[in-house]
Amino acid sequence: METRLGQRSPQALRETIDDKPPIIAVVSSKGGVGKSTVSLNLSLALAERGLRTLLIDLDPQGAIGHSLRKGDLEWRGIVDVLAKEAQPEEVLVQTREPRLAILPRGRLDPVDAVVFEELVRQPEVLNSIIDPLIRDFERVIIDTPSGVGSIPRGALSIADWALVVFKAEPLAARTIQQSLRLVEYVASNINPRLQLLGVLPSMVDVRNEVAQNALLDLWSHVEGVLDASIPRSEMIAKASMLGIPVAYHGGRMLPEARRFAQLAEEIESIITVPGRSRDEERPLRSLV
Ligand SMILES: Nc1ncnc2c1ncn2[C@@H]1O[C@H](COP(=O)(O)OP(=O)(O)OP(=O)(O)O)[C@@H](O)[C@H]1O
Ligand SMILES: [Mg+2]
Repeated sequence: METRLGQRSPQALRETIDDKPPIIAVVSSKGGVGKSTVSLNLSLALAERGLRTLLIDLDPQGAIGHSLRKGDLEWRGIVDVLAKEAQPEEVLVQTREPRLAILPRGRLDPVDAVVFEELVRQPEVLNSIIDPLIRDFERVIIDTPSGVGSIPRGALSIADWALVVFKAEPLAARTIQQSLRLVEYVASNINPRLQLLGVLPSMVDVRNEVAQNALLDLWSHVEGVLDASIPRSEMIAKASMLGIPVAYHGGRMLPEARRFAQLAEEIESIITVPGRSRDEERPLRSLV
């Protein structure tokens, strides 16, 4: 039986209207908080849930390529498309996971990073590269460079969802406000489709008191903190060093890989369930 439009979730409705998958931009004002690690491992977790996923590397430093141990000149990508030396579909990298593909930054001399930034900060330019590709996918993840500058802003301008990554350390709850302000600004002034997917605590060291306090601070002052979190772990650091996602580390599924699976599950529940709110208002009432 055919589903009536009115019964569809807002996301499904949008997909029906413009045929585009949800785009998630992974951002943080602070550097080195685990964005690229989250982008890569989350993309794989979504693919392993059965969703055709595209991971886009929008970091001029080519973070995803480097995470997978690829050199600056190894993978063609966005840069090569911008230079009119390739078509977008020619530069996609199909991974060993059949449902995961990567759109790399492309071959870029580091001294030309500023030109890359100047171009990809423009939503029209970014859309012209990804539009021909994304209809073949069900989820799109964009890894961005840290900060609140032009590339994160450009990514948020074409995204449906913002995933803000938070590293549990002193004053982090304050720096998170910069990212949240950028999300709010872009949603109000540039891209009304943009919504906050959530704030993800990353590199969490539960044994460290300073980290615990930073988390408490986050929970008390920031709305939209996800239930999922990513622990600080030797295994994750080791997997990055080897250039593989943590789920591909071999052997049994590691608890770290499960955390990314859990993150994917929570994200899916937010994206696909109509009107679901993380911070539901609850009336004051007695239990018995
Ligand atoms: N959960 C984790 N546990 C241990 N190490 C981690 C974890 N997440 C990331 N790392 C390590 O921390 C470093 C920074 O991570 P990553 O590159 O993902 O951060 P980033 O926010 O993308 O940085 P940038 O701001 O430079 O883009 C890397 O060496 C990575 O291997
Ligand atoms: Mg990065």
